[in-house]
Amino acid sequence: MPNRFAIRSYVRQDEAAVGRITQDAFGPEHATRSVWQLRYAHPIDELGLIVEDLDISAENSDAITGRIVGSLQFWPIKISTYPALLLGPLAVKYYLRGLGVGRLLVKQALSQISQRNWDFCLVSGEPDYYPKFGFKPVPDKVDWPGPIERQRVQFINLRSLDLEKLPDHTLPVLSDID
Ligand SMILES: CC(C)(COP(=O)(O)OP(=O)(O)OC[C@H]1O[C@@H](n2cnc3c(N)ncnc32)[C@H](O)[C@@H]1OP(=O)(O)O)[C@@H](O)C(=O)NCCC(=O)NCCS
Repeated sequence: MPNRFAIRSYVRQDEAAVGRITQDAFGPEHATRSVWQLRYAHPIDELGLIVEDLDISAENSDAITGRIVGSLQFWPIKISTYPALLLGPLAVKYYLRGLGVGRLLVKQALSQISQRNWDFCLVSGEPDYYPKFGFKPVPDKVDWPGPIERQRVQFINLRSLDLEKLPDHTLPVLSDID
């Protein structure tokens, strides 16, 4: 049986659909959360990923989202002076949750960012969701900008450096333009 869900790279024409899916998943106030202080300007387009539901026919498709049912974006950040990526927003249409769309997005995302230009990937998300992909809670020395439930901030090493083994002084999380 052919796969129901197809993953592909983000293109600029997906912007409105991604905005809709993100708003539906996180609510209209989502941009007031502290994680958005780290999201200046634009996500990194070439790292964005889209999942389409091939079962959605043209006549049944939503005018904005079409067949798009999941999306994941990355924003450039720094942890102190170390280049890093912020994973998210990750959003899946509510009626398709639990079918593996999120897993498809996160696995593909991690395979395309490892061993490249960034030392670490951070996420602010569901504490129980990301450990299955290798994420761990950030060490105390990582200084998040603003209020957050600490266990939501998780990381994964992308190259040879280990965030837990860096010298023990405060490491501020900064947007890429700070
Ligand atoms: C969280 C979210 C992206 C998961 O997507 P999904 O397509 O439903 O997840 P998957 O079907 O790929 O689930 C993969 C695994 O994670 C588990 N899982 C799903 N949602 C979970 C959650 N919120 N917390 C913990 N585990 C979860 C699944 O049971 C599955 O477990 P398994 O590997 O043991 O079978 C989706 O529910 C969503 O869009 N939520 C609203 C927005 C959000 O919270 N985004 C993530 C934070 S940035």
